[in-house]
Amino acid sequence: DRSIKIAPSILSADFADFGREIQAIEAEGADWVHIDVMDGHFVPNITFGPPAVAAFRRHVKTVMDVHVMIAPVDPFIDAFAKAGTDILTAHVEAGPHIHRTLQAIRGAGMKAGVALNPGTPAQSVAHLLDLTDLVCVMTVNPGFGGQKFIDMSAKVRELRAMIGDRPVHIEIDGGMDPTTAPLMAAAGADVLVAGSAVFRGGSVENPAPYGENIRAI
Ligand code: DX5
Ligand code: ZN
Repeated sequence: DRSIKIAPSILSADFADFGREIQAIEAEGADWVHIDVMDGHFVPNITFGPPAVAAFRRHVKTVMDVHVMIAPVDPFIDAFAKAGTDILTAHVEAGPHIHRTLQAIRGAGMKAGVALNPGTPAQSVAHLLDLTDLVCVMTVNPGFGGQKFIDMSAKVRELRAMIGDRPVHIEIDGGMDPTTAPLMAAAGADVLVAGSAVFRGGSVENPAPYGENIRAI
């Protein structure tokens, strides 16, 4: 579906070759580039921080969509803004003051996203929708690529109704592939993150599978 944006997650890219991986997925049709920041505390894995994100910015020509799985978030907001982040998405579970965090993200000049773990209800963002540009519905427990999809169709439908006519994206993150993606699009999602399903079968030397995979989702 052309109206659905695909945001490949570089969590499934070659970690020794991020610059060329980003160029390859954009050349093959990525709408946004999704960057997963993990701290080994909020989630049981560690990836990279603001200096790496600043380096990625030199290659991203589309939208740099940064998903922070870190706690706390607030001390790092300015660093992600300076790194050139377009959309900064923080978890509602990451601290007691998500409302303040979203205000600070917008205050730093970025678009503000809020992410929900699978166990977190749609209602947890009911009072945040005017502070938010994107709601990210996790369809895996965050921390790793390549996990099994957890169906959150009911949550997505509930969020779409709550959002009404506000200009808020619903992004799905985890287990998106040609079978699961249509379920989420039908429920009301408009941005799909995909890691393993985009990068499988390709490489920077042979990027054509990236494009085939993106178009298949
Ligand atoms: C998981 C990350 C996802 C991950 C998705 O914690 O937030 O963005 O890269 O990977 P796949 O598409 O392989 O489930
Ligand atoms: Zn993510």
